Amino acid sequence: MSRIPWKQSPGRKVTGDLAGIYRSYNIVGDIIIVKIPRSLEGRQAEIGRLLLQNNHRARLVLRVRGKTTAETRTRALERIAGNGPTQTRHREHGAVYVVDVAKVFFSPRLSHERWRVAQQVQPGERIANMFAGAGCFSILIARHTPTTVYSVDSNRDAVECMRQGVASNRLAGRVLPILGDSVKVCSAIKGIDRVILPLPAKADRFLGIASQMLGRRGVINHYRECAGSRSDCVPRSLKDLEDRLARVEEEGHFEIVGSRVVRSVGPRKWHIAHDILFRRA
Ligand SMILES: C[S@@+](CC[C@H](N)C(=O)[O-])C[C@H]1O[C@@H](n2cnc3c(N)ncnc32)[C@H](O)[C@@H]1O
Repeated sequence: MSRIPWKQSPGRKVTGDLAGIYRSYNIVGDIIIVKIPRSLEGRQAEIGRLLLQNNHRARLVLRVRGKTTAETRTRALERIAGNGPTQTRHREHGAVYVVDVAKVFFSPRLSHERWRVAQQVQPGERIANMFAGAGCFSILIARHTPTTVYSVDSNRDAVECMRQGVASNRLAGRVLPILGDSVKVCSAIKGIDRVILPLPAKADRFLGIASQMLGRRGVINHYRECAGSRSDCVPRSLKDLEDRLARVEEEGHFEIVGSRVVRSVGPRKWHIAHDILFRRA
């Protein structure tokens, strides 16, 4: 969870054991998502009420229950305060995303990374986003640069949110939402300039398909997870990635031109971005 600066308002000073939790939650549109430790189980209604009082634009507070599912990357959520649907509209860098937080993966903490990639994109690029979720990378890119983005996800609810997001941003024909398994869908797409692989836990296994989609030259925005200390996770991830790329070197020449830690995704576990240039042999 991100640590969002706590806006103190007179008479609502949060101190003691609740202070930490109030500084650590995510806001998606008008919904607050909070993790509550076991030690504070009985106080969830109080926590929910205070979060609403201190975030005037929020209407609903959900607490995280359970682990992230492997396939859709969503988590079970429970309402602890407020009301209304779990679908919302989230604004980021001039784009609007439609997200059902109960059914579709979304993290506001990837905002900077989405913007970083969007700024790399050149006009006219043909892009494949193989794990698009609600289409956030795709919408942000197409909103700022004239491009065509094939935007694939296997979660039906994600693709429905993506369709609504594409319509809200008036990007019909520039972002193409596709429901399906990326392995099957993407093997039919060729001549791509850029492939985005935002599925860190599994994306290594898609490097072969990604490079087959690219034309003579292209870019892969690749995401991985790496365990261990933050100080050396980038060099270790680079080494793993070089080994992985060696297995698909018959496709062409790969050069890793940029790497960064995106965020922490657990105790001593990191989400790493690698920018890879590709040239067909
Ligand atoms: C981490 S989320 C994507 C996040 C998104 N790029 C964003 O910025 O919000 C990963 C997505 O991959 C999708 N997914 C997982 N396996 C897939 C597959 N084999 N084919 C297509 N989509 C898949 C999940 O449904 C999920 O929406």
